[in-house]
Amino acid sequence: MKIREEKWKSQFNEIYLELYEHLQTDEISLDQVHAVQELLGINKGQKLLDACCGQGRHLKEFLNLGIDAFGIEQSRSLVRHAVEKNNVPTERLTCSDILQLRPDGSFDFIVNLYTAFGFFDDPSNDQRALKVMFDFLKPGGKLLLETVFADREWHEHNSSIHPSGSQVTETNKFDRETNTLSQVVCIINNEKSKRYFNTNVRAFNRSSITRLFESVGFEDCYVLNGFATNNPLFGHFTPLQKESVRIACIGVKPSAEGRQS
Ligand SMILES: C[S@@+](CC[C@H](N)C(=O)[O-])C[C@H]1O[C@@H](n2cnc3c(N)ncnc32)[C@H](O)[C@@H]1O
Repeated sequence: MKIREEKWKSQFNEIYLELYEHLQTDEISLDQVHAVQELLGINKGQKLLDACCGQGRHLKEFLNLGIDAFGIEQSRSLVRHAVEKNNVPTERLTCSDILQLRPDGSFDFIVNLYTAFGFFDDPSNDQRALKVMFDFLKPGGKLLLETVFADREWHEHNSSIHPSGSQVTETNKFDRETNTLSQVVCIINNEKSKRYFNTNVRAFNRSSITRLFESVGFEDCYVLNGFATNNPLFGHFTPLQKESVRIACIGVKPSAEGRQS
């Protein structure tokens, strides 16, 4: 029996890379990696999993800093980009939906960055995916998940000129019942040809993300503002504000000692 592939999976391709290239430069990615390293206290040689690592832009920088980093990513074209353009060694990458993997409990840290969570058609898979990340961690290991803040405001229509010169139009519908963003981005080039990037992704706020983390066993959970991208008002991982556009949640897998007592 052939299992139907969820539509969002094929969206992470060359169009995605082109659309967000200017927000994902080496300089921006390195700055984000430094902020993550400082926030979590990651040292050289420690084992880190970049869960849903896209084209490996952070993974490359973690490796350059001497961190024993690995990545998981379901998109074949982004994994190819990680190897060919970002020089990530193939043995550092697993091309798979995270739900299909058997976690080995060996990682000191897991990061899930820049909206890499909440795409499944069935929302209950969010909890399953988070449990897989929990199970990939060692006792005492930490997860950082950084994504869209559900309580932010959305403009239904935006239009801008992309650095490549193409026109970009964005249509956003945000469902406050399910906290799901349905976004259609259209790129119109000089010849007026149109290409689309469509996403449906669940966003989170302080209570929904903390509840989800705790439901799979994380302890000591706290939230912050996420990456400062698109929001120069706040720096990375500053206190969450009602004007924040991104949210970060950090949780700790209880240590074996903690569980015995
Ligand atoms: C917006 S991109 C961010 C990628 C990367 N973390 C970054 O900061 O550049 C989201 C990525 O998460 C991947 N992704 C989302 N859910 C996934 C899952 N369940 N298993 C594997 N990859 C997943 C997508 O394929 C996509 O490449």
